Amino acid sequence: MSNEILTETHGRVALVTLNRPAQLNALNDALMDALGAALLRFDADDGIGAIVITGGPKAFAAGADIGAMADWSCMDVHRDRFITRNWETIRQVRKPVLAAVAGYAMGGGCELALACDIVVAADSARFALPEIKLAMLPGAGGTQRLPHAIGKAKAMDMCLSARMLDAQEADRYGLVSRVVPDDRLLDDTLALAARIAGYSLPALVAIKESVNRAWEGTLTEGILFERRALYTRFASADAHEGMHAFLAKRTPDFQHR
Ligand code: HXC
Repeated sequence: MSNEILTETHGRVALVTLNRPAQLNALNDALMDALGAALLRFDADDGIGAIVITGGPKAFAAGADIGAMADWSCMDVHRDRFITRNWETIRQVRKPVLAAVAGYAMGGGCELALACDIVVAADSARFALPEIKLAMLPGAGGTQRLPHAIGKAKAMDMCLSARMLDAQEADRYGLVSRVVPDDRLLDDTLALAARIAGYSLPALVAIKESVNRAWEGTLTEGILFERRALYTRFASADAHEGMHAFLAKRTPDFQHR
């Protein structure tokens, strides 16, 4: 197995650690292929309810590997879909994916965080899309997800000027879900993931799909999608268990069905 990433499980939570510290976790194909494969594996594993992606203390990931990309031709990229080929995989993951971000999340690293469902940032986290400095483009969803996340004005500023946000700014603008002290980052994110993974998995999947609809379609389509997702909840044993447990003042015993 590749050592570009490390994986472990904590109960129903899978932890994936990006592991190229000497290159600040620059995203090369070996790392991205390993990440895509691990995400698919954990998504298919009935024992896993949530996935956490983290990096190191200095960098979550400093972007696509510039050394690898510098001499690619356009046709190389078209043919082999270098660097982009796993990004749709991340989008396919049905379970909640959390990013635990310390240090630099730049370029593809920032886009990886943006592709996650919840972003927990340490105080040291720094977010930027500096591709313009390379005459490149934030091509892993950055120009699309960032405006959704923080609005056009802030997104244009980050994309066109390479402006870097600190954790507090990222929190204020809505790029991250919450900010914690660096020494709490992993424990707090794993605890949050464990809490989420303890809920009924089909309900989590339905909620994730519904929230993502709000990004991707019209309000009318989204409301219809949400209503169908709600109706489908009544086919779930867990939903009946959850409501009856509430009424009986006991802890629900979810079977993830
Ligand atoms: C390859 C990288 C890298 C990267 C850092 N390194 N970022 N290698 N690709 N994206 C390497 C450096 O070359 C260096 O290697 C080592 O990691 C440590 O980095 P330093 O620059 O010495 O660290 P520091 O001075 O602390 O600066 C940190 C930094 C800077 C501000 C994050 O490294 C930086 O600006 N990196 C590039 C960020 C970037 O432009 N990202 C966007 C990439 S394009 P050596 O061997 O010298 O020790 C992109 C496109 C996405 O992401 C679209 C498609 C997916």
